[in-house]
Amino acid sequence: MKNNHIKQSETILTGDRATGPLHLGHYVGSLKQRVELQSNHKQTILVADMQGLTDNANNPSIVSENILNVVADYLAVGIDPKLTTICLQSQLPALTELTMLYSNLVTIARLERNPTVKNEIHQKGFARSIPAGFLTYPISQAADITAFNATLIPVGDDQLPMIEQTNEIVRKINSLAKKRVLNECRPLLSKSSRLPSTDGKSKMSKSNGKPINLGSNEKEIRQAVRSMYTDPNHQSIDSPGRIAGNVVFTYLDTFHSDIAYVKQLKEHYQRGGLGDGYTKAILEECLQEFIRPIRKRRNELLRDKSFLIEVLKSGSKKSQIETKKVLLQVKDIFGLNILN
Ligand code: TRP
Repeated sequence: MKNNHIKQSETILTGDRATGPLHLGHYVGSLKQRVELQSNHKQTILVADMQGLTDNANNPSIVSENILNVVADYLAVGIDPKLTTICLQSQLPALTELTMLYSNLVTIARLERNPTVKNEIHQKGFARSIPAGFLTYPISQAADITAFNATLIPVGDDQLPMIEQTNEIVRKINSLAKKRVLNECRPLLSKSSRLPSTDGKSKMSKSNGKPINLGSNEKEIRQAVRSMYTDPNHQSIDSPGRIAGNVVFTYLDTFHSDIAYVKQLKEHYQRGGLGDGYTKAILEECLQEFIRPIRKRRNELLRDKSFLIEVLKSGSKKSQIETKKVLLQVKDIFGLNILN
């Protein structure tokens, strides 16, 4: 996609909870855009291990075991640590301090109204046993964003409520300071719509069915494509098939490089005479080709983890300095500066 409309002066921040390896949905929704943005913009990616713990504290290895997987995924798809700063949330104490300060500006009622959090509470079956850290993670996300004074946040639409809450906090801080200390931010939504899960029931995610991870092996890719939802009424090869809702075609639209060929396939499928086995074979080849180099690079990086650790260490060190500056400004507003 073209990002000509994005000013060069924008500061970009994104983050991912480190709760599992990244998948094709992450690639389409955000990673691809991050790779494109990194050459012309200041970009930071935060590996959100603390946020990952907000609903995994009883099983913390889910987070600790996935931190380096996520970094390997970034590098394998082309994020270049020389162009993008990659840092680890738990290494940045300023974020935690900001979270604590901001939490005085947000009511419990406001937190309970956040539609994404509401949805997650329902999905995870928390009922009335919601971890306090989970309910308040939008405040911590506001700390993430403001600590870098980020103005542009490439995210999926489920993250829009977090951006809204961040900007409410920004306005409160600026009004307390009686000047602009923090910048408001805006989302950058991916132009391509969300990639569906292979069963077509929802978007691709860790919690919906089995996602196709960026590190999937050949067999996993084959199985995922074979089980894909197509058109349940397309009973025989000769009968006409439907494109709308047919996951195989959604993926072909997203990943196949030859648009004219996919158009031709669609016409043939709609006319009748094209079987699902055929369209799936074409998609499988295309996904195998797409994932093969990513998997190879990812495996290489994970074989010797020292490079990944070095990337996180140096990115975190740089970010510690940057985020501390913002923390001092915010502490100042609250009068927490008498010893400075
Ligand atoms: N909430 C985001 C997610 O679930 C992860 C995240 C944490 C994030 N901090 C962030 C995203 C800051 C953007 C900016 O994917």
